[in-house]
Amino acid sequence: MSKTWFITGAARGIGAAIARAALEAGDRVVATGRNAARIEEVFQAHAGKVLALELDVTDGARAVEAAEAAAARFGRIDVLVNNAGYGQLGAFEEIAAEDADRQFDTNFFGTLNVTRAVLPVMRRQRAGRIFNLSSMGGMLGFQGASIYCATKFAVEGFSESLALEVGQFGIRVTIVEPGFFRTDFLDGSSVRYGTGSIADYAASAAEWQATYEAHNHKQAGDPAKLGAALVTLAASEEPPLRYAAGTDAVEAITGKLDAVRSEIERWRALSVSTDGAR
Ligand SMILES: NC(=O)c1ccc[n+]([C@@H]2O[C@H](COP(=O)([O-])OP(=O)(O)OC[C@H]3O[C@@H](n4cnc5c(N)ncnc54)[C@H](OP(=O)(O)O)[C@@H]3O)[C@@H](O)[C@H]2O)c1
Repeated sequence: MSKTWFITGAARGIGAAIARAALEAGDRVVATGRNAARIEEVFQAHAGKVLALELDVTDGARAVEAAEAAAARFGRIDVLVNNAGYGQLGAFEEIAAEDADRQFDTNFFGTLNVTRAVLPVMRRQRAGRIFNLSSMGGMLGFQGASIYCATKFAVEGFSESLALEVGQFGIRVTIVEPGFFRTDFLDGSSVRYGTGSIADYAASAAEWQATYEAHNHKQAGDPAKLGAALVTLAASEEPPLRYAAGTDAVEAITGKLDAVRSEIERWRALSVSTDGAR
């Protein structure tokens, strides 16, 4: 049976690729983005199957309007993809407080806004799938990415807990953890770097930024293949709670899990020494 997808940040990158994959599968897409005209242009070949809506995910009231418009047009929302986001990179001390807030407003509170707007529709249906875009940076920290990773760790904790709350309504949550994918993520049109200039960080911050810039539009991950993978997961009876996308993500995350387990084992005696008498 064909599905209705609701996708944030659908004008470009991974969001656009997921929308295209869903359309290729014969599904309908509510494609949302900050610039509705741009969304309409990107999906004009699929006009009958696409509802283009303006939605900046930091605007909770607009998210509710968009979810209502989607349900009014297509009758239901089967799959929500919380994709909108960007990278605020740079050394923590060189990132202005308002830039850190803005990163959380988009990557984390934006995900809450849209999920809050769509859940009533899914609860009514007693069915739904939610894909929350985290990152391999939602499972492990990276130098020069403390604030970005913090938002994605927050998405992970929220999503894992939400899955436990809404499973009773037939709603399944999958956390998507891509490695490096070839989009505008590292491009000047998307990524932001710290604006501070603390001498102690000059060398390391320049090195991290140069490394990220060298990867711009050269990342190994193929967004079209990620889109196709989400179509597969949306059709799966038993979707995973976590889906790591790309060899880099699989290796980095399994390495992190091994390191956490071995560190806990090394300190086990001191860890359990804090138990009180029963
Ligand atoms: N590419 C990677 O390597 C990678 C890896 C791990 C995770 N991710 C995650 O994947 C998601 C998509 O990133 P991408 O790689 O596709 O990057 P991208 O090419 O830069 O696209 C980002 C999209 O998010 C939208 N967006 C940003 N802020 C928004 C807001 N406040 N409201 C609505 N839309 C907003 C952008 O809209 P505009 O066009 O209006 O700017 C754009 O459509 C992000 O959550 C990112 O953290 C990406």
